[in-house]
Formats: sequence, structure tokens, C-alpha cells
Amino acid sequence: MRAIITGASSGIGLALARELGKRGYDLALLARRVELLDELARGLHERGTRAVAYACDVTDASFVTDAVRRAEKELGGAFDLAVANAGVSIPGHASKFNIAEAEQTIRVNVLGVMYLYDAVIPSMIERKSGRFAGVASIAGLRGLPTAGPYSASKAAVQAFLESARIELAPYNVGVTIVNPGFVATPMTEKNRFRMPFLMEADEAAVVIADGLERGERVIEFPKPMSFLMRLVRYVPDAVYERMMVPYARRRRDEEKVKS
Ligand SMILES: NC(=O)c1ccc[n+]([C@@H]2O[C@H](COP(=O)([O-])OP(=O)(O)OC[C@H]3O[C@@H](n4cnc5c(N)ncnc54)[C@H](OP(=O)(O)O)[C@@H]3O)[C@@H](O)[C@H]2O)c1
Repeated sequence: MRAIITGASSGIGLALARELGKRGYDLALLARRVELLDELARGLHERGTRAVAYACDVTDASFVTDAVRRAEKELGGAFDLAVANAGVSIPGHASKFNIAEAEQTIRVNVLGVMYLYDAVIPSMIERKSGRFAGVASIAGLRGLPTAGPYSASKAAVQAFLESARIELAPYNVGVTIVNPGFVATPMTEKNRFRMPFLMEADEAAVVIADGLERGERVIEFPKPMSFLMRLVRYVPDAVYERMMVPYARRRRDEEKVKS
């Protein structure tokens, strides 16, 4: 079995690579920081896993296609599992909207997923087998204050993959949406607020790998966070706004202090 993971140089992607390695997958690891990928690949080799690493910026479609083709050659065939995990989160306030940051968020979190999808899906359809997973977020279930572009990018991934799941079912190609809550990674270590139900990346990787093995449509965790956000989805807009005002104000106040 062969799997490809984007954003394998740190956090959830790195932990998932180790977990899938333990479960017998040959791996292709993609990210921009190739020295971190090489180190990961060496560690995986020592534990008997075949792994190849490629420097790849997922915002460039040709880089992604090229890395996929090279990895297929090196590992001896097309992928059974593709995990579009690479992502960025750049907090900001809507009153100080930064279009360059928003663009980067959409490029990595949305187009990055679609570029990997484009590179691996035709062969899965042809073989009538395989699974594509995209790492979205619980933040895609409602617009979260101070995370507008991030929430929007994750909602886009959820909708894109939900459509794809329906359309690919006749080809026996599975599609999984992964919605983590808070996971301790370099992405979240800059957060200054209390992160409810914070999970370790290794734990998250086991939950994701188990869900992928079971062919789940949506892997959402930790369970209490998932339950809370599913509930919040049904809260009327006016009530939701009132609940969230303090969170939006906090960031604006922090920015006032900085400027
Ligand atoms: N941590 C959480 O609480 C949490 C919650 C929900 C969802 N998620 C999602 O989980 C995924 C992984 O996040 P994480 O928490 O593990 O964060 P992380 O440790 O910061 O890892 C992000 C990964 O994405 C890669 N990446 C970023 N920009 C890239 C680009 N342009 N091209 C290729 N790779 C790129 C990074 O590699 P390079 O910098 O080496 O390129 C890195 O490997 C993301 O999609 C994130 O939105 C995380």
C-alpha cells in the first residue's frame, strides 16, 4: 500500500506519516522544508518503512503533479491513499483585513488540496480503488472570529470533498473529510488563549489512521469538541454573534496594544 501526505514536515502530517508507516504503508512525503522531510524519511527507514521526500510548495500545481509522478515512479505505482494535509493559519481581524494573507490561506488550504486531488484522482478512478482525504477543521463548521479566511478555506474544503464523495462513489473511490479540533502543533503553539480539549499530534494521528482504515466519510475529533461545534451550528445567527463578540474583541484589543 502506498500513501502520499502533504505538509509532512511537522505537526499532524509528520505524526500521521509515522503512524501510517507503522501500519505498513510506503510513503511519499511533501512539504517545502525538505531537510525536515529527509530527517523524517531517515527515521522511517530505520523502522523498516519505505519513504521518499520531495520539496514541494502546494500552491504550485505543476510542483504537486511533478512530485506525485516522481514518487509514483520511485515507489513503484500509483497511490492507494492521498492525504492533503498542508495548511496555514494566519489570525487577523476583519477590521484590518490583509488580502495577501487571505490569498495565501486560500492558496495553501484550498487550491493545495485541489492540486493534489487533480494529480491522484484520475488513476484512482481508472483503478476503481483508492481514498482521498483532506484535512479541513472544526473551524470550517461556522465562521470563527479572528479566523475569517481560515474558516472560509476549511468550509470550502469540506464542501468540495463532500461533493466529490458523492460523485466518486460509483468509481469505488473513497473521500474523507478530516476535521480536527485543537491539536498541539507548531500551528497552535502561538495561540495565547486556552484551547479546549487540546490533543497531542500522535493521538490525533491514531484517530485519523483508524478512521481512514474504516473508510469513514468524516473523521472529527476530539469527540466533545465535535459535539460542541455541531451543536453551535444550530444556534441561531443572532445568538451565535452575541456568544462570539468577546473573542472578536479580544484580538482587536491585542492589536490596539501592539500598534
Ligand atoms: N493544529 C490544529 O489544532 C489543527 C486543527 C484543525 C485543523 N488543522 C489542520 O491540520 C493541518 C496540519 O496542521 P498542523 O497543525 O500540523 O500545522 P503545522 O505543524 O504548522 O504543519 C503545517 C504543514 O503544512 C505545510 N505547509 C504549509 N504551507 C505549505 C505550502 N505552501 N506548501 C507545502 N506545504 C506547506 C508545512 O510544511 P512546510 O512549512 O515545510 O512547507 C507543515 O508541514 C492543516 O491543514 C491545519 O489547518 C490543524
